[in-house]
Amino acid sequence: MESQDWKDGIEMSGEITSNQSLGEIVGKYPLLSGFFEKNGIDYCCGGKETLKEAAAEHNIDEKNLIKQIEKELERLDEFQADEIVWETRPASELVDYIVARHHGYIKQNLPDSESHIRKIVQVHSEVNPNEMMGNEKAIVRLPKLLAAFLEMKESLSKHLKEEEDEVFPAIKNDAVDESLKQKILKLQEEHEELGETLEKIKQLATDFVLPEWACPTFAATYRLLSGFQADIHKHVHLENNILFPKLF
Ligand SMILES: [Fe+2]
Ligand SMILES: [Fe+2]
Repeated sequence: MESQDWKDGIEMSGEITSNQSLGEIVGKYPLLSGFFEKNGIDYCCGGKETLKEAAAEHNIDEKNLIKQIEKELERLDEFQADEIVWETRPASELVDYIVARHHGYIKQNLPDSESHIRKIVQVHSEVNPNEMMGNEKAIVRLPKLLAAFLEMKESLSKHLKEEEDEVFPAIKNDAVDESLKQKILKLQEEHEELGETLEKIKQLATDFVLPEWACPTFAATYRLLSGFQADIHKHVHLENNILFPKLF
């Protein structure tokens, strides 16, 4: 399927420019979240960063980065139409979506991910010498991985409760005042901390690259954690870069 309109738009009006923020770009083209995720570019907590700044940080030529993004947009063309552009929708609708889609995802996947990590920690606590061949780091790091995950689980549970019990009902009731603003600032600080914990988990899980000897449970654990990270990035992007700016 060809969607000539927006492709022409990019070329004719230079829609993707290096001065745009990452949050703005993903707000407009939500499916680009996968491209940024794949390239390790933080578009959620780092959503205020411009494309130019992100290119410099990752040592990529900015024109080349724009070209890659345009190419990705062409590839995504046929999927893009189904993706909701939340910038144009009411805040209350976005709140319902975040709770159903992203809070639902976390609640469904947290227990499963935890039991998977606990299982691989238990299975690999007595290290098989064959498993130490070149990939020992993956095993040595497992208890730390579990600790980081549990830390994330605890702060996430409090964070979601604060959003669902306090902040989101106030948004839906249009009770936008100074006290709500302060609560949102606190949520944004928690997003930063969450981003740091997720990064720590990714490093402890050796960038989710599986050791050669990985058993199916090990593979499933890394798959769950990597999916978790991608989903939380989208979730935080929707709150930080789309929902909260709608209010003030
Ligand atoms: Fe949330
Ligand atoms: Fe949040």
